[in-house]
Amino acid sequence: MTKDDNFKGRFGPSALITGASDGIGRAFAVALAERGFDLILVARRQDVLETLATDLSARFGVEVQVIASDLSDPAAVPALLVETDAASVGLVIAAAGFGSAGAFLDLDPATEANMVDLNCRSVVALCHGFGQRLAQQGRGGIVLFSSLVGFSGAPYSATYAATKGFVQSFAEGIAPELGARGVSVLSVAPGPVGTGFAARAGMQMGQAATPETIAGGALAALGKRGTVRPGFLAKLLGWSLAMLPRAGRVRVLGAIMKGMAGAPSSR
Ligand SMILES: NC(=O)c1ccc[n+]([C@@H]2O[C@H](COP(=O)([O-])OP(=O)(O)OC[C@H]3O[C@@H](n4cnc5c(N)ncnc54)[C@H](OP(=O)(O)O)[C@@H]3O)[C@@H](O)[C@H]2O)c1
Repeated sequence: MTKDDNFKGRFGPSALITGASDGIGRAFAVALAERGFDLILVARRQDVLETLATDLSARFGVEVQVIASDLSDPAAVPALLVETDAASVGLVIAAAGFGSAGAFLDLDPATEANMVDLNCRSVVALCHGFGQRLAQQGRGGIVLFSSLVGFSGAPYSATYAATKGFVQSFAEGIAPELGARGVSVLSVAPGPVGTGFAARAGMQMGQAATPETIAGGALAALGKRGTVRPGFLAKLLGWSLAMLPRAGRVRVLGAIMKGMAGAPSSR
């Protein structure tokens, strides 16, 4: 993580974090509270967010607001924008998301569509609403979550990989537009990370980076780069896959995802 003293001046005083109750979003909450950011924590599980808020306020003396929201609901982001109207948000971390694994025709179509709603539609709405506010301020940052599987198709996790391809392309597209208005957009493309993600997706994960590695790497890259692959594993796997033609990447990812699919899904 960068020790740039101007970081809070550029991206503070408050950060809104979606998916803050678990995994990567939670690691961002801790890392930003450590830097003195006031926080707005968003996820569905209010009790988990409240426990985290109490802990972070006590440890770091920051103000923490909790908003329980199911962001896959099309009404959720407009409501979130109203609820945060008076807050001085300089940084948006859009970490809420989930995946699935298995043969596409065997997966529940409602869950797959819900994934598109959360991973894509809510991200567009968040970036539009908060992008306007940040552009008006003339400064700020937006951190979005792509994935190692976001750079080509991935059989046995086809919808998830497509949502992450959407986010990668969307982030690359809005970054120069918002950059010209003083707002940095970063796409984070991790490899496997040890969080609640695999259990919900019904995936078996072997080696994995820690969520703290992802948060630290992303905050160090914010304002300096457009895409970051935090952690050794993401760099190694990303580099190896990039050597292959696109069709080869699809074959390799299919073999990997087929091996990882099959665990029972939670949540
Ligand atoms: N873990 C990995 O291997 C990995 C790799 C590449 C990219 N990513 C991406 O990184 C991001 C964070 O994933 P993670 O690993 O931290 O997963 P995680 O541990 O499962 O956390 C996901 C977070 O999203 C929230 N969430 C899920 N559904 C929601 C909904 N409908 N509305 C609001 N919040 C919701 C969850 O909270 P509630 O359950 O309380 O709602 C939780 O806080 C995701 O976009 C994921 O695609 C993860």
